[in-house]
Amino acid sequence: MGDVLHVFKANSRALLGAGEKRQGKVCATHIVKGQLWGIVHVYNTPNTQGRTPMAKKQQSKQHDEELNEDSSEQESVNALELLKEDHRKVEQLFQSFEEADGRSRQGIADEAIKAIEVHAKIEETLVYPAIREATGEEDLVDEANEEHHVVTLLIKELKKMKASAEGYKAKFKVLSELVKHHIEEEEKEMFPEAENADIDWEELGQEAMSIKERMMSKSSRGQRRAA
Ligand SMILES: [Fe+2]
Repeated sequence: MGDVLHVFKANSRALLGAGEKRQGKVCATHIVKGQLWGIVHVYNTPNTQGRTPMAKKQQSKQHDEELNEDSSEQESVNALELLKEDHRKVEQLFQSFEEADGRSRQGIADEAIKAIEVHAKIEETLVYPAIREATGEEDLVDEANEEHHVVTLLIKELKKMKASAEGYKAKFKVLSELVKHHIEEEEKEMFPEAENADIDWEELGQEAMSIKERMMSKSSRGQRRAA
């Protein structure tokens, strides 16, 4: 069996407990409508090595039961709410970067960049096309896509640098200003218009979560290979 990602709702204590229980890693959390959701990456680590076949079977059965329990807990997610929560998360990371000392900046910047990449993918492939089609809005969507383009260029440059390098902090600051401006436009102009459009936000929310899981899983596998 390969690595598995679970999405489930939980209070923070249960979330961490569940992560430990499954011997996985809580790789992302989101708050949607005040509800905490977690994504746990369950590694296919050979924790059963050295155990008897019966012990392995029991562990596998327990794991399946937990999976069923989780899937029954899953609820619909509104894509717009999900995007707004992403916005709050990257704003927080930008703030943390500002306040961090030199040694902590790399990890914060990496996390912010990953969050922006996943978020942009969801918007570009799902949300913007849906808004364009449902509202006929061209200008706002075109402008948003162009802003994504500039953000992507900056991220490409940042990925080639170390956070300790000269110029990194300034470049990251410009990225944060661009993203904050982009967020403001989305939340003040695009999203209010889109909210009233004939768009199934719950269905898009499910698709958005699939993209998020896939990209986080890929990133997590890359990190493990590099370790
Ligand atoms: Fe956004």
